[in-house]
Order: sequence, then C-alpha cells, then structure tokens
Amino acid sequence: MTPGASIERAAELIRGGRLVAFPTETVYGLGANALDPDAVGRIFAAKGRPRTSPLIVHVDSIEMARALASHWSAAADLLARRYWPGPLTLIVPKRALVPDIVTAGLPTVGLRVPAHPLALELIRAAGVPIAAPSANRFTELSPTTAGHIPESLADYTLDGGPARVGIESTVLSLVDAPTLLRPGAISITELEALIGPILRGATPAEGAHAAPGMHARHYRPATPLYLDTVSREGNGIVLRMGKEMPADPKSYAAALYETLHRLDAQSLDWIAVEPPPDTPEWAGILDRLRRAVA
Ligand code: TXA
Ligand code: MG
Repeated sequence: MTPGASIERAAELIRGGRLVAFPTETVYGLGANALDPDAVGRIFAAKGRPRTSPLIVHVDSIEMARALASHWSAAADLLARRYWPGPLTLIVPKRALVPDIVTAGLPTVGLRVPAHPLALELIRAAGVPIAAPSANRFTELSPTTAGHIPESLADYTLDGGPARVGIESTVLSLVDAPTLLRPGAISITELEALIGPILRGATPAEGAHAAPGMHARHYRPATPLYLDTVSREGNGIVLRMGKEMPADPKSYAAALYETLHRLDAQSLDWIAVEPPPDTPEWAGILDRLRRAVA
C-alpha cells in the first residue's frame, strides 16, 4: 500500500471505532476516536489498563484543542504556540463533549499535538481527536518502534520508523497552579522560562492516581533492572553513561526503550543502569528508570 492508502485505511478504522497503533515522536500510541466511548473502552480492554487512568487526547492544532477545552488560559496558549507540535501534554478543564471514560471521570483533559507527520495525517484524515496511551500492555515498556508493539493489541498499525524523542511527553497541569505531573523531554526549566514557577507533582505515595505514569511500577522491562553499576551473578549487563549508553540526555532518551526492549529479548538475569544525574534535563529519564527498577 502507498503511505496515503494506509493513512486512509487507518482513518477509516478510527472512524469505525477500531484501534490503530500509530507513531508519535515520543512513543507509539494506541489510538481510538476520542469522542466515541465504546472505541475508547477498547483501548482499556486491549491494554489491561484500569479505567482510573486518564488518556491523552491527540489533536492536530490549537484550534482542535480549544474545541475540547472549556477554558484555554494565556499560559496554555503560550506553551502550545511554543511547543506544539511536540512532546508536551497540557491538562486543562474539559468540555462536556469529551467522554468521561477518556478522562477517568476527571473534569479535565490532557491534550497534545504530536510531532510526527503520520500522526498528524491520521488525525486530519479521521477528522476527530484521537485518544491514545502508549501502545503497550499496562505496566510494560512503551514501544519506540512498530516492532515493539505486542501482537493483536491494535486492529491496524502505521509504521513510522523509530521514535525520535523516545520517552513519553512531559505532562503539565494548568488546572490550578501549573504543576508538573510527569517529567519528559521538555524540562521544567524550559517551561518555567516561559510561564514562571511550576510546582512538582505528587509522588505515587502521596497522591491518587491522577496520572497513570504515577503507578510505581510502570515502564518496566521483564528483566530485573537495578539503578547502580554493580555486576551480579549470572548473565547481565551494566549500562554506563557515555559507554553502553549515550552521554547526553536527548540521545539517551532516544535509545532507552529500544535498548531495554533489545536486552529483554536476550533473557538476561539482570540489567544494571548507571543512575543519571538528578538534574532537570535528566528528570524524564531518571523517572522512567526509577519506575523500571526490579
Ligand atoms: O508521549 C506520550 O505522552 C504518549 C504518546 C502516545 O502521546 N502517550 C502516553 O500516554 O504516554 P500514557 O497513557 O501512557 O500516559 C498518560 C499520561 C499520564 O501519566 C497522566 O499524567 C496524563 O497522561 N493524563 C492524561 N489525562 C490526564 C488528566 N485529565 N489529569 C491528569 N493527568 C492526565
Ligand atoms: Mg504508558
């Protein structure tokens, strides 16, 4: 099939209430028509994801975002203009047309414009916003290539090559005081430069599961993973920064899930990962590694 034909097929399936796995710049998503509660229900069933975990809605423009938001603040506008399309999810008050199943009953909705041409073409061709979590089973590693996506998860998969960013979007709530709910490729420092001080979100121990990424054991490979440089008994590997793994945070993020998927396929006894520095640029990576610890 030509690329145009596969987009048209995928868009048809979305309009028909089916699930389509599609590339974004962060990780692959498992998408459904965000305005169709039955279609969104299939996402939760396929992933084995609890319905208490709200989904991100992918839109093709600020205009489509505003059609789903009951309030669009000056901060939302500033951030969207600067970072969309891109790896930033904004949590804003929702309009009634966004079904409750999408937001796990919350009065708010997570929105982002993904920076991958196939994702944008899919949303445009389908003509609806697309609700999509990462295209993996609940608590497993997110896919950064089409080959990582578990079989039979989606009715159809669009292959857009390896994800450029490699970890999930930064999630920022703009509902009350701006609050970082999940660190990602765009650092809190960059966001604060644009809109001023941002609160750090609740840790899993403190808060309810306002964010599914807050589940303590998320982003987990099957192989036991340790956040140190200790060699253990049996077959394993130590991943050091600037050696087995890249030294800069952008390249590291792009390589992280691909590396863990590859090592998982080797049935190792352990993976030890040198802890990256606890700085804003590394926060997204450190967060995913901490949740991946055995
Ligand atoms: O990069 C990404 O964000 C990827 C791609 C596919 O876009 N998606 C993704 O989705 O990582 P998921 O379902 O694995 O993570 C959803 C995140 C949660 O961690 C949570 O912080 C946030 O979205 N979220 C969505 N709606 C929310 C809401 N109404 N209130 C608070 N958090 C929300
Ligand atoms: Mg996920």
